[in-house]
Amino acid sequence: PVLVVDFGAQYAQLIARRVREANVYSEIVPHTATVADLLAKDPAAIILSGGPSSVYATGAPFVDPALFEAGVPVLGICYGFQAMAQALGGTVAQTGQREYGGTAVQVTDAGTVLAGSPDAQTVWMSHGDAVHAAPEGFEVLATSAGSPVAAFEDRERRLFGVQWHPEVKHSPLGQKALENFLYEGAGLAPDWNPGNVIAEQVERIRAQVGDARVICGLSGGVDSSVAAALVQRAVGDQLTCVFVDHGLLRSGEAEQVEKDFVASTGVRLKVVDARDRFLRALAGHTDPETKRKIIGREFIRVFEDAAREVVAEAGEHGDEVKFLVQGTLYPDVVESGGGEGAANIKSHHNVGGLPDDLQFALVEPLRTLFKDEVRAVGLELGVPEVIVWRQPFPGPGLGIRIIGEVTAERLDVLRAADAIAREELTKAGLDRDIWQCPVVLLADVRSVGVQGDGRTYGHPVVLRPVSSEDAMTADWTRLPYDVLATISTRITNEVPEVNRVVLDVTSKPPGTIEWE
Ligand code: XMP
Repeated sequence: PVLVVDFGAQYAQLIARRVREANVYSEIVPHTATVADLLAKDPAAIILSGGPSSVYATGAPFVDPALFEAGVPVLGICYGFQAMAQALGGTVAQTGQREYGGTAVQVTDAGTVLAGSPDAQTVWMSHGDAVHAAPEGFEVLATSAGSPVAAFEDRERRLFGVQWHPEVKHSPLGQKALENFLYEGAGLAPDWNPGNVIAEQVERIRAQVGDARVICGLSGGVDSSVAAALVQRAVGDQLTCVFVDHGLLRSGEAEQVEKDFVASTGVRLKVVDARDRFLRALAGHTDPETKRKIIGREFIRVFEDAAREVVAEAGEHGDEVKFLVQGTLYPDVVESGGGEGAANIKSHHNVGGLPDDLQFALVEPLRTLFKDEVRAVGLELGVPEVIVWRQPFPGPGLGIRIIGEVTAERLDVLRAADAIAREELTKAGLDRDIWQCPVVLLADVRSVGVQGDGRTYGHPVVLRPVSSEDAMTADWTRLPYDVLATISTRITNEVPEVNRVVLDVTSKPPGTIEWE
């Protein structure tokens, strides 16, 4: 693989994705990995990412000069470029001239990485220090006002560096520079694509599982569905999927899993109808965290019971059910490797988030993939588009979109309003423009309305359309007024309990996406 050494900023994942977009497989490694650790992975090339530090800051991560003796092509980016310059005997100094944002650079010698670039181009910079003198043996390729050496290379030793961020879209020729490094600098062929993962994972799953039985908790979301389809491809009927209907689903979802997914994959599916059990457990509770915890707890119990039944149904082979499929993705792997505990804003109950003490070994066929790659794999496996392109939906479902107590009647009201909003957004072709659009029922609030000649005293629903890259931050989506108008008219006409539709115009932060 191409190894992307993560110096602690947000850029490493982006670089890894861009490398894969160039059809070369990449992995992220922490900057604490030693040169021996890196070489043990037999890297085809190494990219040193940007980072938040100055090479002069105390405790700033540094690069072991031995890395450059190993004969592996290296590209340094931003902080990685400066750390590389310093390790090889160049000079890095504070210039007092920070460069941040779109910056003009002059290309003086295109070299390998900048081949095919115009002499003057705009790139995205974000740095305080700058390289003043390139190490011996390096050609200077470009300069800018604040960076006497903005790019360099030593063709002989296949070492390259740029001060800017080629991985961000604000560097228009950035992808070209990365590809120049990969194809020309490192001599790699663009022969990887997410589809390759299928054959490789099928082999790997077969080797791991043998002829044992496997279970998978299916949520109807993209990740668990694609993971299940991949395991199904590998071991067929040894897999049983368990779908828990907790009654907090949107209209049509259980049917979609039962019909569409099974039809396209042939998966053996066990549907557990736990609707009454969840309603009973939630009765009388209004506190959001309490509701989340109840849903999480009940979910695990139901799943464990179902798993036991699958084991029992396997009869005398029951003790062969040893494996649990999880749709863990690469960002989860990278982020949990980072180890920094984030503040607990909400107790996220992921349907995949089953407890460790379940007695199964994990099968995680998507753990090297980013979300868009998972979608590509899903399409190639024949998972229906409605599932592959599904927007995120929280594990606790509509239970955290009813503000107040969750009851069967309120769920019906919310389901009806939600179905209308989804239908109109789909009809307007907006599904891929928005991250998701929760519809929230303010069940304990009433307001006066008028319909025909009669007074109504009904409940408001909130539309919460958001745009986001990763759900960590989000902005409210400026939906076209006519689409909002249609949704509002239809909901108030077709759902008698609702007499008011309001729009949430709060970004995240300060608001979270869900209301609870
Ligand atoms: P918040 O409300 O935290 O939501 O801004 C961020 C994203 O996560 C989804 N979400 C969840 N997903 N289990 C999940 O699987 C949960 O408990 C959960 N809570 C929120 C939410 O829909 C949004 O996409």
